[in-house]
Amino acid sequence: MSKADDFVLVTRRGRRRKEDRRSLNGNAVTSRVTVEQDREVDHELLLRTLDKAVVEVGDASFTRFVFSRLTESLAVLGSDGISEIICYGLGQFSQYRSSRCQLALLLCLRARYEPARVHVYDPAFRPEEVRALRTLGLVVIETNEEGKRVVQRDRTTLVYMPHCSRQLTNNFLYANWGDGLSGCILLANSLSATVDDCLRRDVLNTAGYILRIRPYVTEIRLENCFVYEEVFNDLNIHIFTRQELLKVPQDFWRSKEEPRYLTKDVEFVTATQ
Ligand SMILES: C[S@@+](CC[C@H](N)C(=O)[O-])C[C@H]1O[C@@H](n2cnc3c(N)ncnc32)[C@H](O)[C@@H]1O
Repeated sequence: MSKADDFVLVTRRGRRRKEDRRSLNGNAVTSRVTVEQDREVDHELLLRTLDKAVVEVGDASFTRFVFSRLTESLAVLGSDGISEIICYGLGQFSQYRSSRCQLALLLCLRARYEPARVHVYDPAFRPEEVRALRTLGLVVIETNEEGKRVVQRDRTTLVYMPHCSRQLTNNFLYANWGDGLSGCILLANSLSATVDDCLRRDVLNTAGYILRIRPYVTEIRLENCFVYEEVFNDLNIHIFTRQELLKVPQDFWRSKEEPRYLTKDVEFVTATQ
């Protein structure tokens, strides 16, 4: 995750607690929500700042590039558009510029593919972030699905997972294992790099489904020309064309065991944590 930038949505910092605020006259003196780390997030300021991020990201050539690659991908898939967007792992966008710009791209994608419904989840969201997402009309998923949402087969779903853990992508592939993957477009960190840049042992332990699907994925490289290099680096579009999926060996889809990860990873929060 990128470092917090100089942008501050916090209206008051420090170890000031609810009891302190009551101590002036014995009554509560603020209705603001206190969130983790004793920081308060200003709802209106957060929305205004997101507006600015949407303008900046919407104007970026990177975004035009993403749109044009998605148009090409949809044409290859024979799809007339994206009807659903699932987004996992945005991170705390009230605090981090990367997460904020990634959310801005999500909002640009929603506008482009209107009336697509957008579902978002990150266990790290703060209450004020959830409130902002709902104000923006996004559906905040209520439970930790560990990335295992099964998408509908008769439509095209965009799955956006910016800088998410291998396990999350692996779980998504597991949940949708089958030729229905042709209805999914993954906007996520490079699957080929995930396999190539990791120790074989780690890939086998945490990314078995990524390893297996890799020969049949069409990966469309996105040039990272966004002004802040760390926001979208290594993010690519992945599609599963029917033509490629026809090449899988017999029994390829049949072997489908639920992934179990033996080691804990701070970037992958399980439902039982
Ligand atoms: C490496 S951070 C990336 C954050 C942000 N997208 C960025 O690029 O800075 C991984 C994110 O995945 C989130 N995450 C972890 N487990 C998750 C889960 N089960 N479902 C959805 N998101 C999860 C973490 O909370 C964290 O925000």
